[in-house]
Amino acid sequence: MALDKMKDLSLTPAMIRIDLGEVEGVPMLTPTCSIWDKIWKFKARPDDLLIATYSKAGTTWTQEIVDMIQQNGDVEKCRRDTTYKRHPFLEWFLPASPPLSYSGLELAEAMPSPRTIKTHLPVQLVPPSFWEQNCKIIYVARNAKDNLVSYYHFHRMNKGLPDPGTLEEFIEKFMTGKVLWGSWYDHVKGWWKAKDKHRILYLFYEDMKENPKREIQKILKFLEKDLSQEVLNRIIYNTSFEIMKENPMANYTKDFPGLMDHSISPFMRKGLVGDWKNYFTVAQNKKFDEDYKKKMADTSLVFRTEL
Ligand code: A3P
Repeated sequence: MALDKMKDLSLTPAMIRIDLGEVEGVPMLTPTCSIWDKIWKFKARPDDLLIATYSKAGTTWTQEIVDMIQQNGDVEKCRRDTTYKRHPFLEWFLPASPPLSYSGLELAEAMPSPRTIKTHLPVQLVPPSFWEQNCKIIYVARNAKDNLVSYYHFHRMNKGLPDPGTLEEFIEKFMTGKVLWGSWYDHVKGWWKAKDKHRILYLFYEDMKENPKREIQKILKFLEKDLSQEVLNRIIYNTSFEIMKENPMANYTKDFPGLMDHSISPFMRKGLVGDWKNYFTVAQNKKFDEDYKKKMADTSLVFRTEL
């Protein structure tokens, strides 16, 4: 649906499926494109923390870990609001009627410091003020195949996104970067390069699954926080997939009623490494791997597709 038609509607699931436009060649939802100038001019503050990911790489998980660290393991405080409201999603703009309306920009602008902000922007589209203010950034990357499968299911259940078509069609779109937020390959490589020049902690979903304690400790160090073993264990427990799946402030069941249909595929779907094997055919896998090799030939970045 085009932006002009969307403005004054009280959106219903059947009506949505927002179109993709482009910002600097990167596919973005048309509402985001329409306010791009404002996003680009966003004023970051020095104590802002940015959580950046390609969509479906483990953003919500990382957000919960970070919030629990910031709240010193206080579970009640972390349940003060849903993830979407606790951490403004910078470029997300839904000019609909409440309760679907959302403006990450406005939410961020109104929020007192210190703020934690979420983005899926590729590194070259991050508003310059984040670099000027030398903000800390946590980037989380997930292997392409699991990321793709998760993204495919998310498109099925989230009626605010373009129709993914069949998995076969979606794999093609993913490989050519013709999906929302653009090429996964450019995203992970771009941020990987940037980490050498800026204050970026680059994490992997697979590492977090393998050893959450070790990865949470990396985040603690990066945020210059020291917490007791007891609090650390509480954070590990409360940010596990099983607990977060049942947490209405983290599982998106309270957000965007009608837009996300958890009966099609829950937001907290499986939370696994290697689930792609249940979806890719042998032929799809072969083609994907050949293409992957070419696209990732110019980087030292290595992913694990199973544990
Ligand atoms: P799956 O669809 O593979 O289950 P994002 O938050 O970036 O949108 O990523 C969502 C993906 O992260 C989903 O993957 C979701 O299940 C998974 N996820 C969310 N919380 C998690 C947790 N605590 N542990 C492991 N995976 C988690």
